[in-house]
Amino acid sequence: MAVHGHYKVTVVGAGFVGSTSAQRLVEKNIADVALVDIVPEVAKGKALDMMQSAPVLGFDAKIEGGTGYDHTKDSDVVLITAGIPRKPGMSRSDLLKTNADIVGGVVRQCMEKSPNAVIVVVSNPLDVMTYLAHKVSGLPDNKVMGMAGVLDAARFRTFIAMELGCSIQDVEALLLGGHGDTMVPLPRFSTVSGIPLSDLLPKEKIDALVDRARNGGAEIVGLLKTGSAYYAPSASSVAMIQSILWNERRILPSCAHVKGMYGMADAWVGVPCTLGRNGIEQIHELKLDAGELAALHKSADAVKADIALIG
Ligand code: APR
Repeated sequence: MAVHGHYKVTVVGAGFVGSTSAQRLVEKNIADVALVDIVPEVAKGKALDMMQSAPVLGFDAKIEGGTGYDHTKDSDVVLITAGIPRKPGMSRSDLLKTNADIVGGVVRQCMEKSPNAVIVVVSNPLDVMTYLAHKVSGLPDNKVMGMAGVLDAARFRTFIAMELGCSIQDVEALLLGGHGDTMVPLPRFSTVSGIPLSDLLPKEKIDALVDRARNGGAEIVGLLKTGSAYYAPSASSVAMIQSILWNERRILPSCAHVKGMYGMADAWVGVPCTLGRNGIEQIHELKLDAGELAALHKSADAVKADIALIG
């Protein structure tokens, strides 16, 4: 039994992000985990391996793996990391359609077993896949969200701490918008122990750090060559899930359905959300200046164009 109650999380995709997330969830006793992958035996094998770490590490949470969905029944949260990376010769819209088919199918099967779960999407392109999960699941807006902002902010916070040589614990940062090129970092809302970032670093330096955060995923891909980041993505996903299950009500930037706020009638983008037992308990509307608002709208429009591509 997990420490804070008997919670259960389905993790779909036992690849790098999925299995690392599953590992963090059980090691921290946040929830029991049902791991799923389409590749025969992989989820089962990884789950068994993780279970065998329990006696050594001393956690009580259970993990079970499989290719089907029976063992996912009655999950409180579903984390979706299934997908394929872009292959040579594949257009952006081919990738979109392939991952849309995967995520659509996965959501349908998860919902059959756990109709009341909260869904957290990680599969890319993130904002579009979150929209799709919402559409396919038929769940209310508060129960479907995407993980991107926590990760993007963590990257920005890391680079700020590295630049200043200060403790990472004191660095707070906020950003909005879609995951990727059009993300909207907000240095104005970033502080170190309450000190505005602009008092600590010149504008050019802040711009360079923003740029590095924006390209944080690509920097890792460039180094790994055959895969993308997973330590920080899994930590970010688990922070969101913990805030939901333990009703911590943390304000974490998450991809959400924005209807009316920020001058947007109907958009899927990253915004600051209070995450608690009902999923998104509240979306916070910041007082943005004209430039920030224009950047957010541009980001939302880019997501909309991709949504149109999957039809
Ligand atoms: N059902 C279940 N699992 C699936 C399906 C499916 N229909 N299709 C693919 N998978 C599995 C793959 O077999 C693989 O094990 O999803 C897993 C994806 O894992 P990786 O390829 O290791 O990718 P990962 O690095 O974990 O990234 C997963 O998260 O950050 C995003 O861009 C990233 O979209 C990608 C996702």
